[in-house]
Amino acid sequence: MGDGPVMKMVIAVAIMMTATVNGAILSGNFLGDFEPTFGDHRVKAMGGQLLALSLDQYSGAGFRSKKDFLFGRVDMQLKLVPGDSAGTVTTFYLTSDQSTGRHDEIDFEFLGNQSGQPYTLHTNVFSQGKGDREQQFHLWFDPTINFHTYSIVWNTRLIMFLVDNTPIRVFRSNEDMGVPFPKNQPMKIQCSLWSADWATQGGLIKTDWSKAPFVAYYKSYNIDGCEGMSGKSACANTPGSWRTHDLDAYGRRRLRWVQTNYMIYNYCKDTKRYPQGPPKECQRVE
Ligand SMILES: *[C@@H]1O[C@H](CO)[C@@H](O)[C@H](O)[C@H]1NC(C)=O
Repeated sequence: MGDGPVMKMVIAVAIMMTATVNGAILSGNFLGDFEPTFGDHRVKAMGGQLLALSLDQYSGAGFRSKKDFLFGRVDMQLKLVPGDSAGTVTTFYLTSDQSTGRHDEIDFEFLGNQSGQPYTLHTNVFSQGKGDREQQFHLWFDPTINFHTYSIVWNTRLIMFLVDNTPIRVFRSNEDMGVPFPKNQPMKIQCSLWSADWATQGGLIKTDWSKAPFVAYYKSYNIDGCEGMSGKSACANTPGSWRTHDLDAYGRRRLRWVQTNYMIYNYCKDTKRYPQGPPKECQRVE
């Protein structure tokens, strides 16, 4: 391609976009923005736009962002392991440094199933090392046929999980009730595919290794976030609609639709686990 005026403009705009935001707006280049964490050749970037993770008897695979973020929005498109995916776990999550013992984490985990049985989408929020805030869902589509967009919005007031832009879960900052909220520790974006014996139907159904390797695909992510540096956000003055993102009337209706029809577990409603009453943050119902 020639170095014509259009091309020059494209380059100029691209430079402007990265330069004006001292946080980061990143999209689409796995090779530049991410690095493998484990699994060697089982992490396979296919031209930068598409990335495949595979799992066999010997290992799963994973990758993570090179940068850390303190607040922002991350959209990731995933296509999950098709067919018999029992015992496989595909993840997309944010986590701060786990070696501190007081880490923060925001999780999407997809628990595989026998052929024809639905995946379970498992979500959790850790703050200051404490999780135990599981909510699980079935999906309203087959997540193995097409790519779907899974999003995490994280601002000073809430964490929102979205599936194809439909909010499925909101975790609000309830610091006034003494519940710590993730806000000081920068997080990396992490993705992985691994094997877990407990994952499918409570451990009843085991992985059929004759079907290996299992493959999950990631593509066309979008990150609009603040780069995190030692407890500070590095883009205090940049816009970003995620900063004020919250439920509107339509979002609230959609959330209720998901909760009514597709939620299969909610720690707030687990009276066996919490005979004395659920954790404090459960008092606020969306
Ligand atoms: C697997 O399928 C069963 C039966 O439909 C369902 O109860 C379960 O939630 C599904 N997910 C997992 C991870 O077991």
